[in-house]
Parts: sequence; structure tokens; C-alpha cells
Amino acid sequence: MLLPSPSCPTIRVITRSAPNIESTFPPALRSPPHSIVIVNHYESDEFFNAFQGMETVFHDGLNVHPNEAAMGVTAMDASRKHGVKHFILVSILHPLRRKLQTHLNKLTLEEYLMESRLNYTILQPTHYMQNVAISTVRESGKIPIGFPSDIEHSFVDIVDVVYVSLLVMKNPTKHKYARYELVSQTLTYAQIAQTLSEALGREIVCDVIPTKEFMAMMESSGEIENEFTKNAIEGMMLYYDRWGLTGNSNVFSWLLGRQPVTWQEYARREKEKSDAI
Ligand SMILES: NC(=O)c1ccc[n+]([C@@H]2O[C@H](COP(=O)([O-])OP(=O)(O)OC[C@H]3O[C@@H](n4cnc5c(N)ncnc54)[C@H](OP(=O)(O)O)[C@@H]3O)[C@@H](O)[C@H]2O)c1
Repeated sequence: MLLPSPSCPTIRVITRSAPNIESTFPPALRSPPHSIVIVNHYESDEFFNAFQGMETVFHDGLNVHPNEAAMGVTAMDASRKHGVKHFILVSILHPLRRKLQTHLNKLTLEEYLMESRLNYTILQPTHYMQNVAISTVRESGKIPIGFPSDIEHSFVDIVDVVYVSLLVMKNPTKHKYARYELVSQTLTYAQIAQTLSEALGREIVCDVIPTKEFMAMMESSGEIENEFTKNAIEGMMLYYDRWGLTGNSNVFSWLLGRQPVTWQEYARREKEKSDAI
């Protein structure tokens, strides 16, 4: 979204090495003035130095990972040391829901950032709609979940999150010291299945899998690498069973200047994309 613009600032992507790294980022990011720095967060000196010369940092950190807070703190310390002018933190909706380990990590990071003396903006997205991959669901007819399908959750389209991130990057002063809840629609998974059935033209149902079985599936697919992650995800399932994760879309609509993308629009867009291939 930013790269084709004539006013695109110099972008540096700081990421870890991955097998598909060549295809993950557009070729333009590989040529000057842009750059991709490949470094693992635990290679601390190299990670720290990668922030040198940066004006704005957009920190989208680790997901359900024991080193998430440490990596975030290092990114903020490095930004302060290297004179970064604005730090944008991707947090999460309602970090004060401390029973969720992932939210507790974000609460720690938000507090650290507020007391860091950096200029900052905190973005608090709820569940990404992209967690439900339309192409997979369309093929299988199922949305696998490890908690009941009749509890409400709030969702947001990651493309809308990118749009708001750009607004902040282009005019950081306007968004200094802000914390924005990024929420679109609030639905149960059963309602999502119904919406997707209509949008995709085939029956979609929720495949509610007992938590232990769901965890075993995640472990065998390599998504759970350690006991921290296992405990955090198990706790998440229990929490979602009782409370779900619900928020309000007013702030996000105001930021976007329009209504956020809905489940129906997301499903239609993804269907059109895959039909065009
Ligand atoms: N998913 C959601 O619904 C959601 C909603 C709100 C907030 N968030 C927050 O957004 C952040 C990103 O979540 P996500 O769902 O986008 O997760 P994700 O897709 O798994 O992204 C995590 C990123 O961290 C990178 N990474 C993993 N280990 C690393 C290491 N050792 N050193 C450097 N980088 C490493 C991954 O690189 P690879 O690509 O190489 O694996 C990946 O780019 C998390 O803090 C999460 O809590 C997520």
C-alpha cells in the first residue's frame, strides 16, 4: 500500500530468517533506499543495532511466545537509544483482560512504552478475520474451533488495520499518545458460518473440537513449540468458552472515516481473489 506511493518513506523490515523469505516481501523492498534486515530477536546486539537511523518504528511482535515481552522491550530501548521519533505498537484488544497470557504481555508492553519517553501510538486490534482462511473453509466446508460456537467475538479485517497503520505513519504527531481499539463486527462463530455460507454459496459449519484434541492438533502441526505457548493457548480456549472477546467499533469507524469491512465483504473479496487465479 505504501510502496507504490511517490511519497513512500524509506522502509526497513526487521525480520527473522525463514525458508520463504525471498517470496515473502515485494522485490522493491530489497532494493535501495529500502532494506530488509534478517535477524533473530535473541541475537540482541544485531537486533538492537537494526533500529539505527529509523524515524518511525512499527512493532508487530511475536505471537503467544515466551520472548514476546522481552523482544518488545528491546525494540523500545533500541528506539530510544537511536533517537526514533515515533513508535507504533501493535497491541491487542483489551490488554487489561489479564487472565489471557497474550493480553498480559501486551499490558506490560503498553505500560513500558508509555513510560519510555518515546512518542507513541498503540493499536489494539481484535481477532483478525484472516485467522479464518476463506480458501481453506471454502474447500472443507468447516471452521475448526476449540471452544463453543455460540459465544460472541469481535473481528477486524487486517487490510483495514494496515490502512489505519498508514494513517498513523503518515501523520504520527496527530496520533501521539493515542490508544485505538480496532474492531469491526461482533458475531458468534455460528453466525460467521452462516454468513460465509451465504457469501460463498455452499454450506459452512463450525467443527467444534474438544480443547484437548484441538491442542493435540496444534502440537502435531508444529504451532505449539513449548509449554508457555501450550499453557497460554489452553487458557485462551477456556477464556473464550466463558467470555469470548468483544469490543466496540466506534473508534475504528471514526479513524477509517467509513464503516469497517464486514465478514460478508471479507468473504466476497477473498472469493473473488481466488476465483481470479
Ligand atoms: N492474529 C490475530 O488475530 C491478532 C489479533 C490482534 C493482535 N495480534 C498480535 O499481533 C502480533 C502478530 O501476531 P500474528 O497473528 O500476526 O502472528 P504471526 O503471523 O505468527 O506473526 C508473528 C511474526 O513474528 C515473527 N517471528 C517469530 N519468531 C521470531 C523470531 N525468533 N525472531 C523474529 N521474528 C520472529 C514471525 O516470523 P515468520 O513469518 O518467519 O514466522 C512472524 O512474522 C502478535 O503480537 C499478536 O498478539 C494478533
